[in-house]
Amino acid sequence: MSDIYENVLDLAKRRGFIWPTSECYGSVAGFIDYGPLGSMMKRTIENIWRRFYVIGEGYYEIECPTIGQEDIYIASGHVKGFSDKMCQCPHCREYLRADHVAEGNGITGAAALTSDALAGLICTLPCPACGEVLGPLEVFSFNLMFETTIGPGSQRTGYLRPETAQGIFTDFSRLLRFYRDKLPFGTVQIGKSYRNEISPRQGMIRLREFTQAEAEIFVHPDEKQHPRFSRYAGYEIPLLGIEQQTGNLPAVTLSMEEAVRTGVVANEYVAYYLALTHDLLVTIGVDPGRLRFRQHLTDERAHYAEDCWDAEIFSGRFGWVETVGIADRTDYDLRAHERQSGERFSVFLPYETPRREHRTCVVPNMGALGPRFRGKAKAIADAISASVPGPDGITLDIGGEEIAITPDLYEVRDEVTEVPGVLVTPHVIEPSYGIDRMISAVLEHAYHEEIVDDEERRVLRLPAGVAPVPVAVFPLMNRDGLPEIAREIVSGIRGQGILAEFDDGGAIGRRYRRQDEIGTPFAITVDYETKDERTVTLRERDSMRQVRIPLDGIPGLIRSLIEGTRSFTEL
Ligand code: GAP
Repeated sequence: MSDIYENVLDLAKRRGFIWPTSECYGSVAGFIDYGPLGSMMKRTIENIWRRFYVIGEGYYEIECPTIGQEDIYIASGHVKGFSDKMCQCPHCREYLRADHVAEGNGITGAAALTSDALAGLICTLPCPACGEVLGPLEVFSFNLMFETTIGPGSQRTGYLRPETAQGIFTDFSRLLRFYRDKLPFGTVQIGKSYRNEISPRQGMIRLREFTQAEAEIFVHPDEKQHPRFSRYAGYEIPLLGIEQQTGNLPAVTLSMEEAVRTGVVANEYVAYYLALTHDLLVTIGVDPGRLRFRQHLTDERAHYAEDCWDAEIFSGRFGWVETVGIADRTDYDLRAHERQSGERFSVFLPYETPRREHRTCVVPNMGALGPRFRGKAKAIADAISASVPGPDGITLDIGGEEIAITPDLYEVRDEVTEVPGVLVTPHVIEPSYGIDRMISAVLEHAYHEEIVDDEERRVLRLPAGVAPVPVAVFPLMNRDGLPEIAREIVSGIRGQGILAEFDDGGAIGRRYRRQDEIGTPFAITVDYETKDERTVTLRERDSMRQVRIPLDGIPGLIRSLIEGTRSFTEL
């Protein structure tokens, strides 16, 4: 299987999907360039993501800076806690992720261990870089954020964002107004995130600069029923819950309705986005047989999270790779920014009709307090209002001085007040996608090698809506007016906003193979019959079948084949 991965990488490099960055200077681990076809495919996948979240869910997209001021990441906890455990091989001096050394040797749960425990565990293991037994070493925490300074003079610390989510949280009050102060609402962001990964040696899986597509959905804490849950209630997906993991059992396939009813998934919102994620990943070309959803174990899940699942995709080289995280993050993020900024991060939800509520209040007797306590009277009155009196009065602590307040200095009243509504700090449901890992999986799952007519055919079986070049047009011969007709077809298709490639180089079989390799689903050949009968050959990549279709109406036909409203078999 690992050879297949090498072949995919080789194809991706050779044909302009993915390149090592700044190769002329020796490139840098953890950074990649998307070549012409890779960039095209990335945009297409991002736009499919937008189709699901922005068009389908109605969650508008925003775009925030990739550099953020320090306060943001103090509030989010990244300054203090966004670190991995690192060590250095005493023999080859290579920096290593300590938990990965353990996991590479079949030890699970290493990420949850303390630095000392990890050091004790890995000292008998070989260094993955040089092969020597590591021996006694120190394991320490390394913060993954790239730190920078904002403006000249290094006055303000800034960080390259480690996730796109924080921009959405910090814009919360403006978004709330945009959505007219109502819950639920969602906002998405697609963009670059940065993590200074310790030893990124895993191709596109672990990058130092990568693209995330995140949705933050703000919901009422007591209303976690998704308004369109029925869309996915019967949708079945493989779930590796806590029970399956601890019992060493295989994943179970459950409908989303069943998963919520039996408590496997915490609520409808989380279940809805598990199903939507499955739907989206299969749409872009992930093999459903190599896709599962794994629940975070209790010691792996953030303390504030109510439930958390990873969409994991199987790679022949890397095993199960976490590609999307779907979490119910409760009110953790909004409360954290409220504390750090001093601003309000809650929603005022008015009742349909104001509620009458009984309330006991303690009213200070200012006429008696003033003469007795003079300058301290105001502080004492405030403290009385905030206290719950006992039968003999109240004992206050005012600036370290204990003061006894007798019942004649206040009055306890039962008041009825009209309460217009309630202040609520929303909970956040967060599906968080790694676009680069999605692309890596799609390329690997689309790649096939087969023998056709005694020759090896390498083909990317990409969905028609994902292939970077949806259609290629070939003149059979480079003369007799055939190239002109082919160019006219190309411009007609481009007029529909669809990229069509003109190729007149070499034997027709070679041209088909070139397009197969980059996943072009359809190829049109203009031949001599085209001139006589006004028809062309349309070839489908996967079946390699060819049919003759009329010259007129090609652009519309190609559009419907790509969008899936017509199928090749019906032609
Ligand atoms: N806001 C939540 C968050 O960022 P995460 O699990 O750290 O959650 C979400 O990241 C997704 O981003 C991951 O599932 C993965 O696909 C992608 N991702 C994270 N770190 C990455 C890296 N170093 N290289 C490539 N993709 C990465």
